[in-house]
Amino acid sequence: MKLLAIETSCDETAVAIVESGHTVLSSVIRSQIKNHRRYGGVVPELASRLHVEAIHALIERALEDAQLGFNDLDGIAVTHGPGLEGALLVGVSVAKTLATFLNIPLIGTHHLHGHLYAPFLEKTPPEFPYLALLVSGGHTQLIHVNGHHQFDLLGQTRDDAAGEAFDKVARLLGLGYPGGPEIQKAATSGDEKAFQFPRGMKHDGLDFSFSGLKTAVRQTVERLEAPLPVADLAASFQLAVVDVLCHKAMKAANQLQLSTIVLTGGVSANTALRTTLQAQCLQHNYQFICPDVHLSTDNAAMIGSAAYYTYQHKQHSDLSLRVAPSAPLVLPATG
Ligand code: KG4
Ligand code: ZN
Repeated sequence: MKLLAIETSCDETAVAIVESGHTVLSSVIRSQIKNHRRYGGVVPELASRLHVEAIHALIERALEDAQLGFNDLDGIAVTHGPGLEGALLVGVSVAKTLATFLNIPLIGTHHLHGHLYAPFLEKTPPEFPYLALLVSGGHTQLIHVNGHHQFDLLGQTRDDAAGEAFDKVARLLGLGYPGGPEIQKAATSGDEKAFQFPRGMKHDGLDFSFSGLKTAVRQTVERLEAPLPVADLAASFQLAVVDVLCHKAMKAANQLQLSTIVLTGGVSANTALRTTLQAQCLQHNYQFICPDVHLSTDNAAMIGSAAYYTYQHKQHSDLSLRVAPSAPLVLPATG
């Protein structure tokens, strides 16, 4: 089954064609980063306009790269939330139009569901059950994945997401947008022990909190005299985030007796996070799975994979599909 997948939830216009949930026949991404950079973050109206400008050419490119025509497609997958409302609307409108005129199924897909399925595009997909640490610009969640469509939310951030903390701290340090890759770059020449930043909620359940860390960096920056030791600040901040994320992932895996940890979402592109969690997994004899960097950050191939399994569960959408800017993936288990 060949699905054409569309992802326009934030600042990347992405289109992919994915066969049977795991084979990527083509994947194209147009990043809007350079358009938003001068504003220091994503400007929603600009994002929507740029998606409109890019989407049709990208669909044609994806078909061309896969050497397919519209009539070879078996379904259209699209991110319908969470994300920026106007940006999501572009993808959903195009997807509805394509599904209607081609008379093929439309599969509305949750963006986080996509991140959880990125590892299924790798040669060896994870086996159920496993623990997923999903870290992106908008979310930080520990999820117990029992099977396709069987997710239990174990913990999540109570304030800023990990990626959001990277972006905000990068701004405090005068680095560019998006902050994650900039902090990573600056941190390579820094001393991660130079500053002792707080590890919010490290020993308190499975939820996360990063706003205290961000405040601590801001107060340190305000106290210091110019020139700022940017590399040391970046490295110390990065270590604090990585430390908490890894500690909680190991704790959750241990509590639930899960021996596989999957790391996914845009922040999983961070080398320090990947290598630290991998080393800790090795030490505890856990299997560690993390999609390649190009599948960690936003892309449409992961949406095509998630949608395939949704379709297998006979859950597809119709023209009443609406954008859902703040749809939760799963609600925390109660009791
Ligand atoms: O998953 P994603 O591409 O989009 C969302 O769904 O939010 O994640 C974007 C987030 C941004 O906050 C960005 O700064 C962060 O991922 N990010 C990184 C790195 N690359 C991207 N954070 C830390 N280190 C990186 N190398
Ligand atoms: Zn994402």
